Amino acid sequence: MNTMEITKVVGGVAGSLLILMLLKMGASSYYIGGKGEGAEPAYTIAVADSAPAEEVEAVPFSEILAAADAGAGARVYNKCAACHAVDPGVVKVGPSLFGVVDRGIGAEEFGYSSTLAELGGDWTPEALNEFLTKPTTYAPGTSMSFGGLKKEKDRANLIAYLSTLQ
Ligand code: HEC
Repeated sequence: MNTMEITKVVGGVAGSLLILMLLKMGASSYYIGGKGEGAEPAYTIAVADSAPAEEVEAVPFSEILAAADAGAGARVYNKCAACHAVDPGVVKVGPSLFGVVDRGIGAEEFGYSSTLAELGGDWTPEALNEFLTKPTTYAPGTSMSFGGLKKEKDRANLIAYLSTLQ
């Protein structure tokens, strides 16, 4: 690390500390020039949007999945059955969904779209949950023409059912 880089790092740390200190000074010093209406902010502090909006008390999908009903999921699967078999290696319009939970994405003998072929990773319950919400959002360019399952409960029940296909 050369001197210039060290200067940058030290400067960055000092800058962050300064912002923290200013924040700690808090609301009491935030307004000057009188109380009540018409008081102007003495200064505004630009704070990065560090907290993502969806942090609002979201129930983790794993919890919803733990309470899911595989029997109800088998009925949701009727929406997939025209294109996907549940028996190993059977190709219909799409690849077999036998053992799909935690299987590699695009790992079957199937002519995947380049999107799915290049996605990488595994079909974890979370990944399936996102994909099945709206396939074209999760995997733009996918050849799976399916609008998605709007209800989280349907997705959880379905993924619970898919987990039984082992
Ligand atoms: C109209 C036919 C069709 C329907 C309906 C459909 N799929 Fe698909 N599905 C496909 C095709 C085609 C692919 C391959 C997509 C690609 O390569 O981009 C696919 C891919 C997948 C994959 C990725 C498999 C892998 O090996 O990586 C999963 C998971 C999946 N579908 C689940 C479902 C589920 C669950 C449903 C029902 C809610 C469903 N699909 C409904 C046609 C369909």
